[in-house]
Amino acid sequence: MPGIALVTGANRGIGLEVVRQLAAKQWRVFLTGRCLDSIERAAVSLSAPSVIPVVLDVTDQESIDRAVKTIAQTVDHLDVLVNNAGILNDHDDSVLNLPPDRLRQMFETNTIGPLLVTQAFLPLLRKSAAARIINVSSAVGRLTGMGPAVPAYGISKTALNGVTGKFAAALKNSGIAVNSVDPGWVRTEMGGSEAPRSVEQGADTIVWLATEAPQSMTGLFIRDRKPIPW
Ligand SMILES: NC(=O)c1ccc[n+]([C@@H]2O[C@H](COP(=O)([O-])OP(=O)(O)OC[C@H]3O[C@@H](n4cnc5c(N)ncnc54)[C@H](OP(=O)(O)O)[C@@H]3O)[C@@H](O)[C@H]2O)c1
Repeated sequence: MPGIALVTGANRGIGLEVVRQLAAKQWRVFLTGRCLDSIERAAVSLSAPSVIPVVLDVTDQESIDRAVKTIAQTVDHLDVLVNNAGILNDHDDSVLNLPPDRLRQMFETNTIGPLLVTQAFLPLLRKSAAARIINVSSAVGRLTGMGPAVPAYGISKTALNGVTGKFAAALKNSGIAVNSVDPGWVRTEMGGSEAPRSVEQGADTIVWLATEAPQSMTGLFIRDRKPIPW
């Protein structure tokens, strides 16, 4: 049955594709992002009346609170939260001389942002019969077989997986499923044109988790619809 979802960082890339696929399944979707022009253009590009643009900067508590207020005036619950917004700007860094500000900046968006957004939307999620929280993580954050590339981004995604584990444990008795997803290497502004996967492929597991996966799947790191080691 179609539900109500919110996707962060949805004005382009994987987030926009997740919104497109959910809207195609008749879901009502809040397409959120930090720039009003950009989210309005993205929503128009989908020509789907069930898609509603709302400004939400995941690094700004006031912006998060305003988005909660706006959305709570429109719907009485939320079934799915997709914490998709992310940044990656340390392609040339090495952990051997990583500037601490780079790490802080990456944590603000990739780790603390999803934590704050999840906290803020929990009251609406708790009103769903079967809520799901999906954190879009990355293979470069895996502790198993970690490589040296993009250290600040990678560490921020390892910590995001920690956020997933902690929320999954804290919400287990509430029946709210919380998982991390690795979308694979995807052709977006972040992934670049050389990436092997399309946005459709990158969004697939996220949309599956949002709409079809067993509610009992929680506290997992998932790629291609299957759990993988952290
Ligand atoms: N592409 C890949 O190969 C790949 C692989 C593994 C994981 N991922 C993850 O997948 C997610 C989506 O990435 P993508 O490839 O679609 O990247 P993208 O095309 O660069 O899109 C990133 C999105 O995040 C938004 N964003 C950044 N900072 C934000 C903030 N403070 N508040 C709200 N939105 C913000 C961006 O909005 P603006 O337009 O305003 O900047 C944009 O909409 C990310 O979490 C990324 O780490 C991607």
